[in-house]
Amino acid sequence: HIAHVTLDPAAVVAPVNRRTFGTFVEHMGRCVYTGLYEPGHPSADEDGFRTDVLALTRELGVTTVRYPGGNFVSGYRWEDGVGPRERRPRRRDLAWRSIETNEIGIDEFARWAAKADVEIMYAVNLGTRGVQEALDVHEYVNHPAGTHLADLRRANGTDKPHGIRMWCLGNELDGPWQLGHKNADAYGQLAAATARALRAAEPGLELVVCGSSSSAMPTFGAWEATVLEHTYDLVDHVSCHAYYEEHDGDLGSFLACATDMDHFVDSVVATADSIGARLRSKKKIQLSFDEWNVWYLSRFQNQPPHDEWRVAPRVIEDEYNVADAVVVGNLLISLLRHSDRVTAACQAQLVNVIAPIRTEPGGPAWRQTIFHPFARTAALARGDVLRTVVDGPAYRTDRYGEASVVDAVATHDAATGDVAVFVVNRDHHRPVELTIDLSRFGAGAGARSVEASTLYDDDVRATNTAAHQDRVVLRPHRQVTVHADGAQVVLPPVSWTAVRLS
Ligand code: AHR
Repeated sequence: HIAHVTLDPAAVVAPVNRRTFGTFVEHMGRCVYTGLYEPGHPSADEDGFRTDVLALTRELGVTTVRYPGGNFVSGYRWEDGVGPRERRPRRRDLAWRSIETNEIGIDEFARWAAKADVEIMYAVNLGTRGVQEALDVHEYVNHPAGTHLADLRRANGTDKPHGIRMWCLGNELDGPWQLGHKNADAYGQLAAATARALRAAEPGLELVVCGSSSSAMPTFGAWEATVLEHTYDLVDHVSCHAYYEEHDGDLGSFLACATDMDHFVDSVVATADSIGARLRSKKKIQLSFDEWNVWYLSRFQNQPPHDEWRVAPRVIEDEYNVADAVVVGNLLISLLRHSDRVTAACQAQLVNVIAPIRTEPGGPAWRQTIFHPFARTAALARGDVLRTVVDGPAYRTDRYGEASVVDAVATHDAATGDVAVFVVNRDHHRPVELTIDLSRFGAGAGARSVEASTLYDDDVRATNTAAHQDRVVLRPHRQVTVHADGAQVVLPPVSWTAVRLS
C-alpha cells in the first residue's frame, strides 16, 4: 500500500483545544476508591491519594476531568460528600448497585485535581434533583464567602471558591436506564430553567446540555433538536457520548469506528446549526464529547446483575489490547479533526473503569495499551489543527461501509514550526508507505529533524497486565526518512504512529 498526506499551513481547521484531552472520574467501581484514592497504600500522600496514579495522570497529559458522574450523578446528593468524614452517610448507588461511602466529595476531589493539575468539569444531578440543588452546589463550590453554603465550605476547610467554570446539566437523561429519565421536552425545560438559574448566579459559566447517550439511541437527532430549542441561547455545549467495541471478531469494522465518530459529530453539528438557523441566531453551539472510549459493553450487558451491595466493586475493568489502542488513537484523530466544533472531550474513564490507568489495591498502578496514544497525542498536538487530506487505499467494512486504510490528522505550531502527524494503518496484514508532503510549507520544508513512535505488535490481542505492565509500549520508529519536501514513513499493519517534524 502507498498513501499520501498533503499539508498546508494555511488550511487551518482551528487551534488545538487543550480540553480535547479531558478525562472522566465517576464514583463508580474502583475509579475513585482504590483507584485514585487509597489511604494506607504505600504510595498514598497525606490526603490518601495514590501518588503513583497522580504521576500517571500527569504523564497522560489530561487537562480537564468530568466529575462525579455519569449515571452515578443522577442519584447523587452532593452534600453527603462534604463536612466531617465521620458524619458522612453511606448510601446506595442505584446506578451501579454499590455502596457509596462519601469519603470523597467535591472538596477532596478538588484537592486531587489541583495536585493533578487538571480543570474540573462538574456535573449536577438533574435525574432525582433540580434547579435548587444545582444552585446549592454552585453556591457551595463557587460563591466566594458571606452566604450559608459558601461559609460552610470555608468552615469545612476550603477558604477559596473552587472556581469551576464548566458545568454539565445532568447526564444521559435520554437513556431509560438513567435515574429520573425524561423525554426531550421535559429535560429541555428543566435544563433551561437550571441554566437560567446558574447564569443568574454566575453569568460567565460554560454550560453543557445533554445530547444523546449514543448515536444508536432511537431519539438521536430529535433529542438534540428539541433540547436545543429549549436551551440554545442558554448553553454553550451539547454533549456527545460514544463507546466502541469489536463485535463478533469483526476487526475490520472495529478499526474503522472513527468514521462513525466523524459521522456522529457531523450529525450533531448539523442538528445544532439547523436549530440556530431557525432561531436566526449567529451563535454556534460547541460539542463536548464528554464520554468516549473503547468499552466491551456487550460483555457487561450479558452479565447477570449482582445482588451484593459492596463498596468499590470491580466493574467494567476492561483489559485493552493493541487493536483497542489503535482505535483510541484513531478516535483522538477524529476529535482533533473536528476541533472547530468539538471544543471539549473526556475519555471515559481515568482509572480502572474502562480506563488507561489500572491499579491493584495495595499493589501496582500501570499503563494500559490505550494510555500510550493518548499521552503522545496530548504531548505533541500543539498550535493549529490542519485540514489533513489523505490520498490512499480503501477497504470494505460490514458496519461502516467503505473506509480508508489510512486515517490521519496533523497539527502545526506556528511559534516553533513543529508539525505533528498522527496516523493509523487499519490494514490487518500489509504495511503502508506513507508520504507526508510539506512542500506547501515553502523551500526547505523537509530539512527538518524527524522523530516517530509507533504502537504496533505482531499480536494485536496483546495486553498489559499487573505481571507484564510494559508488554505493549510505544516504540521509537526507525522506518522514517526526511526528504526535501517532507518525510516518508512505513506504517506497520494495525498500528498507530505519531511523527514529529521539527
Ligand atoms: O462511563 C460509564 C457510563 O457510561 C457512565 O456512567 C454513563 O454516563 C455512560 O452510560
